[in-house]
Amino acid sequence: MTTKTKNRNQRSKSPAKTGTNQFVYNVAKIRKDFPILKEKVHGKPLVYLDNAATTQKPLVVIETIDRFYSEYNSNIHRGLHLLSEKATAAYEAVRVTAQKFLNAADSKEIIFTRGTTEGINLVAQTWGRKNVKAGDEIIVSTMEHHSNIVPWQILCEEKGARLKVAPINDLGELILDELKGLFTDKTKLLSITHVSNALGTVNPIAEIIQYAHDRGVKVLVDGAQAVPHLSVDVRALDCDFYVLSGHKIYGPTGIGILYGKYALLDEMPPYQGGGDMIASVTFEKTLYKKPPYKFEAGTPHIAGVIGLGAALAYVSKIGLSHIAAHEHDLLMYGTKKLMELPGLQMIGQARFKAGVLSFTLGEIHPHDIGTILDRQGVAIRAGHHCAQPVMDRFQIPATARASLGLYNTREEIDALVKAVRKVQEVFH
Ligand SMILES: Cc1ncc(COP(=O)(O)O)c(C=O)c1O
Repeated sequence: MTTKTKNRNQRSKSPAKTGTNQFVYNVAKIRKDFPILKEKVHGKPLVYLDNAATTQKPLVVIETIDRFYSEYNSNIHRGLHLLSEKATAAYEAVRVTAQKFLNAADSKEIIFTRGTTEGINLVAQTWGRKNVKAGDEIIVSTMEHHSNIVPWQILCEEKGARLKVAPINDLGELILDELKGLFTDKTKLLSITHVSNALGTVNPIAEIIQYAHDRGVKVLVDGAQAVPHLSVDVRALDCDFYVLSGHKIYGPTGIGILYGKYALLDEMPPYQGGGDMIASVTFEKTLYKKPPYKFEAGTPHIAGVIGLGAALAYVSKIGLSHIAAHEHDLLMYGTKKLMELPGLQMIGQARFKAGVLSFTLGEIHPHDIGTILDRQGVAIRAGHHCAQPVMDRFQIPATARASLGLYNTREEIDALVKAVRKVQEVFH
């Protein structure tokens, strides 16, 4: 990643500074915001290191949702009564919060979805079905989550288009020259992850987007694992679409965001038909609303949107640049400590990484690692992480993956390392 790109991607939104201009990351105070971190599992203090799967929720998110249901639960956009007005205002305010969070040009470019998976499927089924024809090509990479592979396979199968795959090197980095070599005059779309969930690799997407645009190719960025760890500016990146999941950024499950450039959204056909996405309906002809409403058919996840707004505000208040610095320290510390363990192999050693420690331990199956760690209170993920092509690339069935969040500490990394030592003792 170039310095310019790095700066763009890590732009701080809300630098919280002390009087001496020196920010102090008070992780102990932050931890108090998360009620679940006081829980014990198997009688041991919870060490939650499965943040790439889903993050825990701060009290402000829980209380915001609670307040919605307790005080102004109502359907939106339709009612003329006060509760509906309040719910509509709160829902639409989050669109503006999200616009600012991503630095989108207009809040109309923010579409609420169920999550990253739905965002990608939406683009595949609308923009994709309209623009991709037989013989066209779509490029993805080896390190994609299944949700950024399968929707394109479905589209390619339907259209007779071709899916091309950019390879990665032994460190888990994209091989840029080979990616660039895949572009032809048939290429319509590049759909690529910003940060890999299985490896932690941070891709140089600004450079890649520029390269694609120079060839007239649109770019979708899967930001599920990026937004919790680094500041994203969709205008600086100039991506065409950017997708994310609320639950991975300390918000509720079942809610996410699709950002799209307005001109593209405006030309896209609707995704689902139903209430709230229409301007008028007759049996002769139905007219659709403009974006974003055209893509939000039916009663949406109102509580989820409102909770997501609280999560984005929470993260912004701490500041992504501070979160990134804290997690980077943990990543470096954890990498060093884990790699001191005999037989441990770190899968994914990219120069630019975020929040993921994926490893194997000789012949010990990652599921056994995960189970033994769990008995010691350490929650990690073991498996293929919905990224089977990554596992195939490294010729392994699975990894054990510890993934970091803004509330993790060096002491928790020590607990992880101690627990992995225990695994080694058990299998000695
Ligand atoms: C990189 C990446 N993309 C997409 C997804 C899918 O997210 P969701 O299941 O929230 O739709 C995930 C989830 O782990 C992910 O890590």
